[in-house]
Amino acid sequence: MSFMSVPPLRAPQALVDPFGRRVTYLRLSVTDRCDLRCVYCMKEDMTFLPRKEVLTLDELDRLASAFIRQGVTKLRITGGEPLVRRDVMDLFRSLSRHLRSGALAELTLTTNGSQLARHADELAACGVRRINVSLDSLDRARYAAITRGGRLDAVLDGVAAARAAGIVVKVNTVALRGGNEDEVEGLVRWCHERGMDITLIEVMPLGETGEDRTDQFLSLADVRRRLAARFTLTDLPLRTGGPARYVHVEETGGRIGFITPLTHNFCESCNRVRVTCTGTLFMCLGQAGAVDLRAPLRASSDDAALSEAIAGAIAAKPRGHDFVIDRGRPAALARHMSVTGG
Ligand code: 5AD
Ligand code: SF4
Repeated sequence: MSFMSVPPLRAPQALVDPFGRRVTYLRLSVTDRCDLRCVYCMKEDMTFLPRKEVLTLDELDRLASAFIRQGVTKLRITGGEPLVRRDVMDLFRSLSRHLRSGALAELTLTTNGSQLARHADELAACGVRRINVSLDSLDRARYAAITRGGRLDAVLDGVAAARAAGIVVKVNTVALRGGNEDEVEGLVRWCHERGMDITLIEVMPLGETGEDRTDQFLSLADVRRRLAARFTLTDLPLRTGGPARYVHVEETGGRIGFITPLTHNFCESCNRVRVTCTGTLFMCLGQAGAVDLRAPLRASSDDAALSEAIAGAIAAKPRGHDFVIDRGRPAALARHMSVTGG
């Protein structure tokens, strides 16, 4: 990997969108591949992208570094499952230089946890302090059913290894009607007993999965009502610039985040953009508007055209999304979460 990039000729433009929102957070997908097949995410026989479409680790590094020069201070590596990408630790090692220089405040990762146990120490050594682990059930059979074959014990080992390495783990749980509906309270208790936060997520209409999302969709308003019957919930003012709303649970002392893209519009404070593993910059998770960064990346080893393309894209960031889940309506967007990064 190259550890140096050529500085642009002019000072790179800071990333402020037309609504005055400063873009300081990049979510970068490093692969569309995954070793699981969650029922709300992808089809069992999902076709993945040809490898030449996917950015190399060097290209991913250049791209992330360009965003960091333009003011991104928080970088989240996503997928697919980032830890199934071969040599992904080379990328983490290389990106950690931006933490050491102070340009980057946080380097983090969203993972399904299946490969976490063997990477935890090295992630910690690269300066990764916090990660999100997706976990929708604590029941082996149910976990295997939701992920179509995943092994719960691998994830639990991964979580334990990350925590032993000093990494703060937050659990992400997609709320599924008839899937894990009756288990949310148990998941909350399990996380809070271990000092971990949990964020509940509503199913979003992204990509075809071979299942009907109308059947999967569970409103977090219902989940919250159910939790409120067991716990004393207090709204917290805490906003991370992201979509989650947080509550404090008196009985456990822990926090629950709610991500409700369909029942609550969170776009007004959005500070983030996403780049796919093919170098497509999506200005909004829920909109089609996109800019190709792979062409400027591959056209020259100089980053001037790349930085120009990034700035141009941010100048066109839309105000917000318009997700709707209706029976019979196809996915709002054909692309899968595993392409854009969760
Ligand atoms: N709706 C909601 N959440 C999803 N995820 C993947 N696909 C979807 C979807 N269609 C979640 C994963 C993970 C996070 C990265 O995104 O479960 O927690
Ligand atoms: Fe893989 Fe995450 Fe999609 Fe599940 S939700 S199939 S873990 S990318």
